[in-house]
Amino acid sequence: MVLTDTVVAGQCLVAQACRICGDPTREPFLDLGLMPLANDYQTEPGAGCQRFPLAVWEGGKCGLVQLTHVVSPEVLFEDYAYVTSCSLPMVDHFAGLAGQFAVVGAKVVDIGSNDGTLPAAFAALGSIAIAIEPARNIECKVPKITRFLDEVAVSEAIDLLRGKADIITATNVCAHVDDLLGFLGHVRTLLADDGHFIAEWPDWGKIAAAGAFDQIYHEHLSYLTFASFAHALREAGLQAVQLQHIPVHGGSLRILARPARPNEIAPLPTYKSLVPGFMQAAEATMTELPVFLESWKGRIAAYGAPAKATTLLNAVKIDEGLLPYTVDSTPFKVGRYIPGTSIPIRPESELGNPECALILAWNFAEEIVRKLPEGTRGAVPIPFPRVL
Ligand code: TYD
Repeated sequence: MVLTDTVVAGQCLVAQACRICGDPTREPFLDLGLMPLANDYQTEPGAGCQRFPLAVWEGGKCGLVQLTHVVSPEVLFEDYAYVTSCSLPMVDHFAGLAGQFAVVGAKVVDIGSNDGTLPAAFAALGSIAIAIEPARNIECKVPKITRFLDEVAVSEAIDLLRGKADIITATNVCAHVDDLLGFLGHVRTLLADDGHFIAEWPDWGKIAAAGAFDQIYHEHLSYLTFASFAHALREAGLQAVQLQHIPVHGGSLRILARPARPNEIAPLPTYKSLVPGFMQAAEATMTELPVFLESWKGRIAAYGAPAKATTLLNAVKIDEGLLPYTVDSTPFKVGRYIPGTSIPIRPESELGNPECALILAWNFAEEIVRKLPEGTRGAVPIPFPRVL
């Protein structure tokens, strides 16, 4: 199936059809115009970011919400700014995931491993764990195949493990993959017949309920529900056997799937569009955020420089006049600027004592509020700008 074919600026393709059900592209329900890449942290203020179209539409048959334009994965992922172990709550989360599924001696492949925090947690519990991860600039805590998941990566993984995988994990990966059915096909090939595939992704149901339009950025090609993901699994010969709601990234889904048995055809869950509720909540935040920041002008700084802050601040056109600086725990981001803005990123130790800190990494609000100095109140922009 040809999903994307028109080249824009040599590095960006226009989606022609739904990547799961093949439905032709429809009009976007939200068009944010030209936006910088969410992780394109610059060393100079404001300028220097390449911008690409950012808009979302909803597929008709499977209900998949997805971007209209696909930026080349080489542009997005080969020099990556996000480092898992810089977010301590994610380290705990992955330790919990490994604790739930690790088996001594099991062959585990983690796809999109970043610095290998998750496979290392499996290895610490006695599994034999390897990583498949394309980023060249991030060191990995376990043996790594530096590739996107493709035929070559599958055969290298089988060689390295001396057999197929008992467990394959892909956390926060599926939403990033253009050819999702091809990706799941590779998962199926790499997975032993009695193996399990565990995937996690931010739940479009939760994003829509919160109007969290800041989760929309070029890396997130798909906004998946259980219904749309189950559709994709079925196309790839996999069958969901368990669904968990988990709190990470503002509310995610974790699915446990296994190879489908011969002649097994899974029933598909029905899907009701969540777009109207999403748009209502998103528009309310877009209108209110500048008003909220204006009311704290001169007394507020930001906390965190997550990828989603790029969308939030560029979509609402917030710059250093309203948010003079932010702080972040990721060494790579410190000394740089939130993409497309002149808002500098300082180390966490340099927050100072603003009266209010707008927590841009609002999914970690609980942890971050605990770190705030006395006299600084925490606030979040999403679900609706408010002091906590
Ligand atoms: P995160 O929400 O994990 O991801 P994304 O970039 O995909 O939106 O990003 C959280 C950011 O917040 C990350 O840059 C690290 C930073 N952070 C802190 O600076 N301090 C903290 O205490 C926590 C939990 C995160």
